[in-house]
Amino acid sequence: MTNGSVPCHIAVIMDGNGRWAKKRFLPRKAGHSAGSEVFRRIACYCRDIGVQYLTVYAFSTENWKRPQDEIDEIFSLLDKYLDEVQATMLNDNVAVRFLGNLSHFPSGMQRKIDNVHKLSDGYPSGVCQVNICVNYGGRDEIVRAAESILKNPPEILDENSFAQRLDTKGIPCPDLLIRPGGDFRISNFLLWQIAYTEFYFTKILWPDFSEKELAKAIAEYNKRKRRFGGV
Ligand code: FPP
Repeated sequence: MTNGSVPCHIAVIMDGNGRWAKKRFLPRKAGHSAGSEVFRRIACYCRDIGVQYLTVYAFSTENWKRPQDEIDEIFSLLDKYLDEVQATMLNDNVAVRFLGNLSHFPSGMQRKIDNVHKLSDGYPSGVCQVNICVNYGGRDEIVRAAESILKNPPEILDENSFAQRLDTKGIPCPDLLIRPGGDFRISNFLLWQIAYTEFYFTKILWPDFSEKELAKAIAEYNKRKRRFGGV
């Protein structure tokens, strides 16, 4: 458990899976598999300490450049998670949503995602919600929102009505963004939403990330003074 206040929304760039595997002379796929297990543990921990939203970057619009077997592995891990979630969701007390451009996914996966979204709709508000970003890019999300506005303009176009067209509609902006893996960049993640987010970077590779490291990130977050452009 953490002392101090728990961020309402934590976002994570799950980076370092490939290097974790390479260090162990394993294929990159093994790193993603280990990373998906850490994701499960961190999601449960977030639920238990009262985080309301956890948003993870699982596959970006740029990740299609990767070798096909690596792409297949990530999608197979996501598919396995969808099956698991449909079976255990009501016991786990975690709502799950997929964010990103999901329109060209195989129909079987889309059906599973729709079902998980329907089950999540049945949850009372206040329950922990895990958002999994797949085929997600911050720029792509903004362009899709602009397309939706061109097709069906709101009465007033302002930041609030624009945000209603984003994948994150109804989700508050992240308070804390964590990037393990040692790089100091955003990689096209939640570009609109991170205007006032606090960042936490660590060299730890995602498959080595732990509840203890998350508690450390939250403790660091609690030392920050957020002014949102004020004084
Ligand atoms: C970045 O590390 C990681 C990814 C592109 C994939 C992340 C996906 C998962 C952890 C599996 C998702 C599954 C579920 C159930 C949420 P990298 O491969 O770029 O690492 P590297 O920088 O060390 O090469």
